[in-house]
This record gives sequence, structure tokens and C-alpha cells, in this order.
Amino acid sequence: MSPLDPKQYIEMQRQDWNRVAPAWEKWDQYLDQNLSFINYRLVGDARLRAGYRVLDLGCGTGYPAILAAQAVGSQGSVVALDLSEGMLAVARRKADDLGLTNILFQAEDITTLPFDPASFDAVITRFCLMFLPDIPLAVTDISRVLKSGGYLASAVWSTADKNPFMRIPMEVIRRFIEIPTPDPNQPGIFRLSKPGDLMGIAEKTGLHGVTDEEVAGESLFDSADEYLANIKELAAPLQPLFARLSQGQRGEVEAEIKRAVNQYRRGDKIALPMAFRVVVARKLHSASF
Ligand SMILES: C[S@@+](CC[C@H](N)C(=O)[O-])C[C@H]1O[C@@H](n2cnc3c(N)ncnc32)[C@H](O)[C@@H]1O
Repeated sequence: MSPLDPKQYIEMQRQDWNRVAPAWEKWDQYLDQNLSFINYRLVGDARLRAGYRVLDLGCGTGYPAILAAQAVGSQGSVVALDLSEGMLAVARRKADDLGLTNILFQAEDITTLPFDPASFDAVITRFCLMFLPDIPLAVTDISRVLKSGGYLASAVWSTADKNPFMRIPMEVIRRFIEIPTPDPNQPGIFRLSKPGDLMGIAEKTGLHGVTDEEVAGESLFDSADEYLANIKELAAPLQPLFARLSQGQRGEVEAEIKRAVNQYRRGDKIALPMAFRVVVARKLHSASF
């Protein structure tokens, strides 16, 4: 595989996530219902307190920044960064609707951070780090901006076999067109999915007490049609694959995907298992940057 040009890659990411931002707003209630337990998990693991200054990296449409802003209260504040202006616009609307005045949403590439050393009491991030071209560099910079004693609490996707939600469409599409096997060293959904992947990076940057836990959840849908619409509209990384299918192939792929997810029916819902890794680490020395 040709080496990744980080600048080009970041611009591609920005465009990809801007393209799906309206769908993230449309499906916000679904995202909230199925994934909000991870926000509570990160807010707890980062030991947020009233008055803290918190950084959320790759906040998308406000997860977990909005819950963090509620947790730190009016004496505290959250800086929430994302590449995509479209995702940030949705997040701003949601924060405004809730009357939150202690979050600053800012468009930035989070690989390096525009902040002084020891600027934040805690750093939180949900489903973003695996998309970065240089994860060790990003984690080093997270460590730089954390105050001594502060926690990093992060969530990334676990392995594909435990996430039929993402795996099924990829497997089905692969039966119809050739998709190169993802390079495990390139950014992607499952880049940090194995036990120890992110933990190892955090330990190498000198963060302390690193824990890495797999956390299970599930995604509930009323029907296979609802699932299919959801995945096609929300999953930026899958869209280029659907786009490569011919009209005829698309019909067959969609029927196959629906057949596969119908096997996860429970009562009147389709319950698709999901699994995440929650990696938590602490900065324990004063900044030497
Ligand atoms: C899967 S979404 C997760 C959004 C949100 N944290 C959530 O859990 O709902 C990934 C987000 O990471 C952002 N992102 C990807 N690479 C980034 C980068 N280099 N800098 C900042 N944001 C980035 C994308 O724009 C997108 O909003």
C-alpha cells in the first residue's frame, strides 16, 4: 500500500465526516439511546468534577462533550474539537438547545493540540483516536496538555468479530467486489481494536496506571430496513464501498445484509451486539514539555 500523505488523509476525513453530518443529526436519538452509556463511562473514568476544564477530542455531534459540560457545571468548561465543521454545527445546536454555555466547539485536527502544557484537568475521547494518522504523536500531545494527576478516558471500537453491526456489511460487500484487506497500521475503524493496542501506546508515552477493558453493548433496531438505512447514512467509512457497487449488486447486497441482521432478532427488535475498548490512563508527573 502506498504511504499515507497525512495532509491529504486529514482533508479526506474532514470531507467524509462533513458529508455524513446531516445523517448524524437525523439519527441523533438512535445514537443517544444506543451509545450514551459510553459517555457516562468516560465521564466517570475521567473522574470529572465540578469546576474542571475538560478537553473532548473528535467530539462529532457532541459526544461525550455535552455530558461532560453538564458534569463540570457552570464553574467548569469543556473545549470540544473536531475536524468536521458540519458535525460541530450539529453539536452547537444541541448544546444551545440544552442552554449550555460552558462548551467551546472548535474545528481542529487533533493530532497536535493548540494548547499550552498542563491546560486540562481531563481529556476524553469517543470513537476518534483510531482515525488518526499518527496515534503515538496524538497521545504524546494529550499527555502534554493534561495536568499532573489528570486522566485520559477514551473509547475505541473492539474487533470486527464482536461488532456484527459493522462487520456484516463489509463481509457481504466483499463477496461482490474486491476490497483490499485493511492494513492494520493504517487508520481505520478497527485500528485500535485489539487488547493492548491503545494501552501499549499510552504506556510508551509515559502515562500511568493504564487500563484497557472491553465493554459490550448492543444496538437496537425496529427492522432490518431501519438498520440498513442507518448504516448506509451514518458510517462514513462504508459509504465509498456502497458507492462502488453496480445497481444490480446493490439490490443483492442489501437483501443479503438484511437476511444476515435478521438472525439477531430478539422479540420485536433486532439486537446487534457491539463491543468497545475503554482505555484509561493517568498523567502523574509534572509537565516537562
Ligand atoms: C465516529 S465519529 C465520533 C464522534 C463522536 N465522538 C461520537 O462518539 O459520536 C469520529 C469523529 O472523529 C472526527 N475526526 C477524525 N479525525 C480527526 C482529526 N484528525 N482531528 C479531529 N477530529 C477528527 C471526525 O470528524 C468525526 O466527527
